[in-house]
Amino acid sequence: MEQRTIAFIGSGNMAEAIFSGMLASDYDKNRIIAANRGRERLEYIRNKYGIQITQNNHEATEKADVVVMSVKPQMMEEVCTALTDIDFSSKLVISIAAGVTSQRIASLLNSDIALVRVMPNTPSLLNRGMSGLFANENVSENDKQYAQQLLKSVGEICWTEQETGINSITGISGSGPAYFFLFMEAIQQEAQRQGFDSETARMLVQQTALGAAEMVVNNPDLNISTLRERVTSKGGTTAAALSTFNAHALNDIVSKAIQSAVSRAEEMEKLF
Ligand SMILES: NC(=O)c1ccc[n+]([C@@H]2O[C@H](COP(=O)([O-])OP(=O)(O)OC[C@H]3O[C@@H](n4cnc5c(N)ncnc54)[C@H](OP(=O)(O)O)[C@@H]3O)[C@@H](O)[C@H]2O)c1
Repeated sequence: MEQRTIAFIGSGNMAEAIFSGMLASDYDKNRIIAANRGRERLEYIRNKYGIQITQNNHEATEKADVVVMSVKPQMMEEVCTALTDIDFSSKLVISIAAGVTSQRIASLLNSDIALVRVMPNTPSLLNRGMSGLFANENVSENDKQYAQQLLKSVGEICWTEQETGINSITGISGSGPAYFFLFMEAIQQEAQRQGFDSETARMLVQQTALGAAEMVVNNPDLNISTLRERVTSKGGTTAAALSTFNAHALNDIVSKAIQSAVSRAEEMEKLF
């Protein structure tokens, strides 16, 4: 991966996931700066990763070729407006703040910035992330490659041509882990009703979910529907369960749920 000096403005969970992924991909630790409000968190980061640390966002941003905005969305205004005197013309800004549009960030920084907006998800903490990326018109091909490599260090990536695609990605993979958790919880609860203790019920569901996900990943040439059909014998137990799901229109429920998440993402863009 190309070695540029990169500063994380806000060094919480998601920033840590990304820089730990970068370090695992042999990124030069001397070129990573973690900026954070709390000192204790920075000491932990220095001890664990040996990267540069600072409580001074301004100094970190000035030094960096790439600035990752990784504070909570509600902090973006305060953090960005303190950086407006910095010349961003030769810097790449990468924002992972949910619900803050590229236009909004450019207006907060008072600059015509090159910006890649990213929607990661929580499994990035385990290098199993799924990130959606959108580049504004000022981002070069080289910058796109850099941003792509950065997020690939914690999982898979998907570019969207239009910024509205970030809201769709939020509703699909951003919020997606919770959909699977909900489904797994429901199976675990029923397993307990069938007489298993909660630990055994959890093992039954987690291993099944993992196995199903691995089957999808390991069979890229098979449609997911084919995998389903292959385990569904006519008149069998799986067919009985699936017909109950269909009778309750599971597909419609999923579709409506994702649409609700996308609408909420659109509303949230107006808040920050
Ligand atoms: N976690 C996810 O799954 C996920 C998914 C998609 C997008 N995101 C986005 O990722 C961003 C970070 O989320 P997170 O989960 O990593 O949150 P987090 O763990 O709370 O991290 C935010 C960090 O920012 C620091 N901070 C707050 N104000 C600051 C300031 N003025 N200057 C410097 N640092 C400051 C906080 O430090 P203190 O604790 O000292 O205040 C904290 O360490 C958010 O914008 C979120 O929307 C997260």
